[in-house]
Amino acid sequence: MLYSEKVLDHFANPRNVGDMKDADGIGEVGNAKCGDIMRMYLKIDGDVITDVKFQTFGCGAAIATSSMATEMIKGAKIEDALKLSNKAVVEALDGLPPAKIHCSVLAEQAIKAALADYFKKQGIDPTPFVGDI
Ligand code: FES
Ligand code: FES
Repeated sequence: MLYSEKVLDHFANPRNVGDMKDADGIGEVGNAKCGDIMRMYLKIDGDVITDVKFQTFGCGAAIATSSMATEMIKGAKIEDALKLSNKAVVEALDGLPPAKIHCSVLAEQAIKAALADYFKKQGIDPTPFVGDI
C-alpha cells in the first residue's frame, strides 16, 4: 500500500474543512511545485489557537496533511504551532510516499502565513515568536 491507513482516513474524512467568517488570521499559500493552493483560518484567544479551518485546491496528500496539521494545532499555543514542521505532520500520518512530501509543506506554510496575518492585524511584534516565519 502506497498510503498509510491514517493518510487514507484523513483524505476520506478530512477534519476541520471549511471557511471561517470571523477568523483572526488567514493564510493562503501556493505550492510552486504543483500549483496547488491552501488556505488556513485561525481563531485565536490569548496565546491559544482555539479553532482551525482549512480549504485546499490540492491533492489527496495535501488534504490529509492539512487535516492532520489542523488537529495538531487546535488548542495549541501560538509558539508551538509555529514550531510545527511538515516532517512532524508526515510522521503523525505514518509517512507519505517520497514524491508526495512536497504536498505536506503547504499546511505548515499556511499555518505560518495565518499567524503572520494575525500578528499584523493585532499589531503584535512577532519577534519573540518568530525566526522562521
Ligand atoms: Fe496537485 Fe495534482 S498536482 S493534485
Ligand atoms: Fe500539489 Fe500535492 S501535488 S500539494
